[in-house]
Amino acid sequence: MESESFSTLLRTASREQHEEVRGSSFIGALLGRKLGVEAFARYTEQLWFVYGALEAGARHLAADPVAGPFLRPELFRRAALERDLEHLRGPGWRRTAGALPATLEYAERISVCARTWPAGYVAHHYTRYMGDLSGGQIIRDTAERTWGFPKKGDGVRFYVFEEIPNPAAFKRAYCELLDALPGDRLERQRTVAECKRAYALNNGMFEALGEEFPLTA
Ligand code: HEM
Repeated sequence: MESESFSTLLRTASREQHEEVRGSSFIGALLGRKLGVEAFARYTEQLWFVYGALEAGARHLAADPVAGPFLRPELFRRAALERDLEHLRGPGWRRTAGALPATLEYAERISVCARTWPAGYVAHHYTRYMGDLSGGQIIRDTAERTWGFPKKGDGVRFYVFEEIPNPAAFKRAYCELLDALPGDRLERQRTVAECKRAYALNNGMFEALGEEFPLTA
């Protein structure tokens, strides 16, 4: 019955949501090199709020038997985002940084999971970091070419996992952790549902960014 591994289940069950988020107009405009660097800076700023919640949650869950094994310091992105924002916005970036309502909603959901439901937190952890290690590299490449950032340098450090020399091997090990997650069938279903919710929250953020940076013909 349970022939499919949990990592495979998670990937296949969220495939549609992945395509949806990938097809959002903001991502389309970004990959189509139709946006100004200000839109990229605003997106990076939103990620700073999201990873603030994700990585504050990580500190809280370090000793947790379910979420603890996923919390690898080589994944942490907050410091890289701060360097990028300093480059994109200048040293005063913190004074003007503001989260969109959709970003606040996303960050708040992560915080609630971190406080109350470790497997739900893992669903958010997976959706962000595995995405960053995969499609994130396409965004980095596009950003470097569109706005002339130094390759893997300031502006796109968020996308560079310096302490993960072999992302494919890292992802395989991560999937093994997912497959070893404790929990019965119902808990797995709830975790899959939370992963879909994480995609929906990302989509909401992209929609809001798309409204802020509409493409004029
Ligand atoms: C620029 C837009 C995006 C592109 C081009 C893209 C592309 C990709 C690609 C090529 C993979 C690898 C698939 C594989 O190894 O089989 C992947 C995996 C993944 N992406 Fe994206 N992606 C994008 C945006 C996103 C976003 C916004 C999220 C969620 C926030 C996301 C979450 C994921 C996850 C969780 C995986 C890992 C799937 C797994 O192997 O379990 N992606 N993406």
